[in-house]
Amino acid sequence: MGVRRPFIAGNWKMNMLSSQAADLMRTLDHGFSGEDDVDIAVFPPAIYLRDAVKLLSNSTIQVGAQNVCWERNGAFTGEISPAMLKDMGVHLAIIGHSERRTIFLEDDAMINRKLRHALDEGLMPVLCIGETLSERNAGKTEAVIERQISKAFTDVPRDRIPRVTVAYEPVWAIGTGKTATPEQAQQVHRVIREWLGTVCGEGKAATIRILYGGSVKPENARELLHQPDIDGALVGGASLKADSFLAIAEAALY
Ligand code: 13P
Repeated sequence: MGVRRPFIAGNWKMNMLSSQAADLMRTLDHGFSGEDDVDIAVFPPAIYLRDAVKLLSNSTIQVGAQNVCWERNGAFTGEISPAMLKDMGVHLAIIGHSERRTIFLEDDAMINRKLRHALDEGLMPVLCIGETLSERNAGKTEAVIERQISKAFTDVPRDRIPRVTVAYEPVWAIGTGKTATPEQAQQVHRVIREWLGTVCGEGKAATIRILYGGSVKPENARELLHQPDIDGALVGGASLKADSFLAIAEAALY
């Protein structure tokens, strides 16, 4: 992982009631010393963000949103803008998660607008990309990754690119128990870093964190996290239990 500080992020998706969410945050806060050489963030459902910021106000655990709108305000029923997140003390936002792409029909153009607006407003985006099983089986993984990343970054000023964390999440590995092998993941991470290098220079690309997501668990985290271009994990199911999430964070260190 070299110069890049590992980043372990928990995407809670649409899980937990408020008391469970609060319990989990308290347990995480208690269990994470904050002196460890790893960054940790939780991404609770939007309705819990205010509580999360308050609960973790003295913690080094960061809080992020699972989604964000591409507009500042206006007639966008059900949406939340970057300005609103920042106003609440939230500075991280996941953009382009595959569940948003497939279930809520977000396309590359929407994701590009979200990414540009989030950066304009000073958020730190976590951009998700990843191929489906049929795309992988058809040998299209690298083409899909390059298409998603180049469309997401269209018209993003070069100097802003290093503010983005990229998460490679192969769709076939999400919630399925099937993990990409460390070699499969590393190969795609290298492609992503090379692409970043061509647009913002190798030196800058070397500072950008690229997370792996898709059935990360304490049992498989260490091998994944010690690949040269894997700088952390975006964890779904295993982030809902403090033990497993903290074990994954620990795996990034040793
Ligand atoms: P799982 O860890 O449950 O496979 O989810 C991964 C994910 O989608 C994180 O954003």
